[in-house]
Amino acid sequence: MRIDVVTIFPPLLAGALEHSIIKRARDQGIVDIHLHDLRDYTDDRHRTVDDYPYGGGPGMVMKPEPWFRAVESLRVQGNPGRAILLTPQGKRMNQPLVQRLATEDRLIILCGRYEGVDERVREHLADEEVSIGDYVLSGGEPAAAVLVDAVVRLQPRALGSSESTIEESFSENLLEYPQYTRPPEFRGWRVPDILLSGDHGAVDRWRRDQQIERTRTRRPDLLGPDQDVSETTS
Ligand code: ADE
Repeated sequence: MRIDVVTIFPPLLAGALEHSIIKRARDQGIVDIHLHDLRDYTDDRHRTVDDYPYGGGPGMVMKPEPWFRAVESLRVQGNPGRAILLTPQGKRMNQPLVQRLATEDRLIILCGRYEGVDERVREHLADEEVSIGDYVLSGGEPAAAVLVDAVVRLQPRALGSSESTIEESFSENLLEYPQYTRPPEFRGWRVPDILLSGDHGAVDRWRRDQQIERTRTRRPDLLGPDQDVSETTS
């Protein structure tokens, strides 16, 4: 898979994409990630990417031309890919959305600044708008780091076998079970006896029960509308 990210702050993202699972996937050629500076696609001496809003009001708006120039020139080489604009107005990201994007051959991720991007970028350049949650970031860069991480770890062979279990539980709409390692007692807090019992069947049943119970108490919305009693109890 190829991922292009267009941003006015490439260094903000570079570090996030040079460690751990993403670094390994890049080194192994599983994913080919390129960062592009939007200012390289401006045509004035000051490399201007924003301008005053028509109709007045506070803040600046990101101009359309550099975005179109950037994406169109990236598309000259090869697959047009899917252009994703990161914005709090987008569709809220969740695991099914990530799974769908992970099957694309190429993503072109556009990091807007929060104050705004000219509407023609949304309407005529972005194939899709995505939000990572109902809160406002100063720009799309942290959201791009989140999206790229979530998509890369789903690429075939990106995860080692020991890393893949959490993925499975979330795709089943259940939270993970509690995990413990040594020592068996720490500051008086003991690891549940069942995990030390050596009875694999009992451990599997306990973990499953914990997953269901945790999901019911913390995220009933994941279990579907019938199970979600959080709004009705008071
Ligand atoms: N840009 C600013 N806030 C954002 C959010 N919540 N998700 C995606 N992009 C953003």
